[in-house]
Amino acid sequence: MKRQPRSSPRSAKTQRTVSIIGTGSYVPEKILTNEDLSRMVDTTDEWITTRTGIKERRIAAKDEFTSDMATKAALKAIEQANITAAEIDLILVATATPDMLFPATACFVQKNIGATNAACLDISAACAGFLFGVEIAQQFITSHTHDTVLVIGADKLTSITNWTDRNTCVLFGDGAGAAILRHRGGAHGVISTHIGSDGQFTDILFMPGGGSRCPITAENVGHNLNTIHMSGKEVYKQAVIAMFSAAQKALQQAGLSIEDIACVIPHQANLRIIEGIADRLGIPLERFYVNLDRYGNTSAAAVAIALDEANRTGRIKAGDFVLMVVFGGGLTWASTVIEW
Ligand code: ACO
Repeated sequence: MKRQPRSSPRSAKTQRTVSIIGTGSYVPEKILTNEDLSRMVDTTDEWITTRTGIKERRIAAKDEFTSDMATKAALKAIEQANITAAEIDLILVATATPDMLFPATACFVQKNIGATNAACLDISAACAGFLFGVEIAQQFITSHTHDTVLVIGADKLTSITNWTDRNTCVLFGDGAGAAILRHRGGAHGVISTHIGSDGQFTDILFMPGGGSRCPITAENVGHNLNTIHMSGKEVYKQAVIAMFSAAQKALQQAGLSIEDIACVIPHQANLRIIEGIADRLGIPLERFYVNLDRYGNTSAAAVAIALDEANRTGRIKAGDFVLMVVFGGGLTWASTVIEW
């Protein structure tokens, strides 16, 4: 029996309900399997599968950029939402691998899809970025600043992967997911959102080179400073703590309990992290949407791709309460409860 969300500061403010009216996703064609990786570094399919749940990941072509993947996902979302690109007021691209430091990847997407009336910006919240985008979109729509917002999570993590480091190179893949958010007039939509960060952990998941601290030089490229650096065990521990707490906060704000949730769509980093959260929340793993076995960790794209798949395959249906919860470098985390 589904409960009515109780009145909360957020739901009271959200008199203008914000709905996801279309989703889309894209992953590159090229598949890199665990077997393939075992020929590149000292690893095995058995190690990767048991430690992470990942079996294969998609790799973008050299000349296929984050904006290209974002554009393909966006066009599918636009088609499903049955709108024109000109109706989009704001484009938010969450990414840790922008085409360039500037201009924003969102501007490249704008050009590609012809969204001539949109303002464009990128969001830097690592793997948590897509739900940061949903929160920002919601704020703009409820405040009547914008009506139609395109939120994209897109990453080409393989462009910043150290292919000689078995600790990280087995984890990541490329892809993009997109959603169109708009006030729809009905009851359905975003019920609660929670975003958070802890800058004390900037040194457990980061890319040291390429910014103002350490501009790209031949020397620091030689030291792999242009690739992902990660303390896997610490990230793992913090991910479980942050995602569990974020899930609880979004549920509490929505006035729902975990039993009300038809589907949990978590960040797709590691199956053991998802099992840890399922265990703490006290719900079976079957209630989680998991596709990391096929794509690995696609960073900001992960939850957006999973949402699109869950939507298009009927895993989530109208009226379902859906909980999304993510975690990334920063540290950053976010959660959202949506009535689909
Ligand atoms: N193949 C074989 N052995 C490996 C590999 C590999 N690919 N990688 C590491 N090992 C070895 C290590 O060298 C170590 O060997 P040692 O004991 O001889 O030193 C051993 O396996 C155990 O390594 P651990 O790091 O303890 O392995 P752990 O069980 O912690 O698993 C993992 C590592 C999978 C990285 C895990 O810590 C993890 O998933 N962490 C979270 C990572 C993550 O989610 N990152 C991204 C989150 S945010 C975002 O999406 C950007």
